[in-house]
Amino acid sequence: MSSAAAPGKIILFGEHAVVYGRPALAIPVTQVHADVEVLDSSKDGIWIDAPDIALQAELNSLSSDHPLAAVIHKFLFTFGTDPFPSLNIKVTSTIPVASGLGSGAAVSVALIRTLSSHLEHVMTNEQVNAMAYEIEKIHHGTPSGIDNTVITYAKPVYFVKGQSLEIFKVGKPFTIVIGDTGISAPTKEAVGDVRKLWEADKARWEKTFDKIGEIVKNAKEKIENGEWESLGELMNADHALLQEMTVSSPELNQLIGAARKAGALGAKMSGGGRGGNMIALVKPEIAEAVAKSLKEAGAKNTIITTINP
Ligand code: MEV
Repeated sequence: MSSAAAPGKIILFGEHAVVYGRPALAIPVTQVHADVEVLDSSKDGIWIDAPDIALQAELNSLSSDHPLAAVIHKFLFTFGTDPFPSLNIKVTSTIPVASGLGSGAAVSVALIRTLSSHLEHVMTNEQVNAMAYEIEKIHHGTPSGIDNTVITYAKPVYFVKGQSLEIFKVGKPFTIVIGDTGISAPTKEAVGDVRKLWEADKARWEKTFDKIGEIVKNAKEKIENGEWESLGELMNADHALLQEMTVSSPELNQLIGAARKAGALGAKMSGGGRGGNMIALVKPEIAEAVAKSLKEAGAKNTIITTINP
């Protein structure tokens, strides 16, 4: 039996603008994860059991663009595996789907790693990342690649599309509360709508993306220098620009307002938006109170996470 896990992720700064070549900062969230187990099967075929999505099926009965089938086909095709082995694959995940926490990328990474170890095809992180990115492209249209990258490396990343990976240093620990609106919102749609805005007025939105890029660079410097308290106002500024881009939602704004009212130093949506999760920067001693306020304001779930040096 082989198994692998992959964490969730949050984008601290720079979502959406990252699709247009600006930098973004993302961190892994280990409190949630995707887990995959692979066993040899005595029955012919590749049998997939994914109880979270009520799926029990043989690979050939799934359409080739099904998220799990796409990963398995890509893997077996890349390594020229012929005939296909007989396997039982179990996929579980505690990462809410379409919530901005990278559930799809985490399942892809965990599945690629498990197949790699079970079928004894050694893969580097770079190869795992490249394969997971190919899958992201099937599902998200024009993804930047930030989700698969932060999840593959499971380290805080400063990401610029098409450039080599930079793992950023954290000067002093800081605490984030994550609040889930419980509304699933496919990243593809939000990214597609931003593209329509950009196509209609490139000059305007390029300026907005530039402003976000500046916020991200500033935030990286502050995180590296341990000046985490001043990240709050940068989060607020980033969120205001994301609102202009129409990717926030009343539910996200409600949670963000509640977090600020409860004493968070700043708050913003995280990921594709329109639903999914928001994040708030807090002094550790008020993290629980902010999480409670988020629940009272309608959050379906909260996670408190500390980003350590
Ligand atoms: C999704 O987690 C982040 C977006 O910027 C899309 C992407 O970078 O591919 C919204």
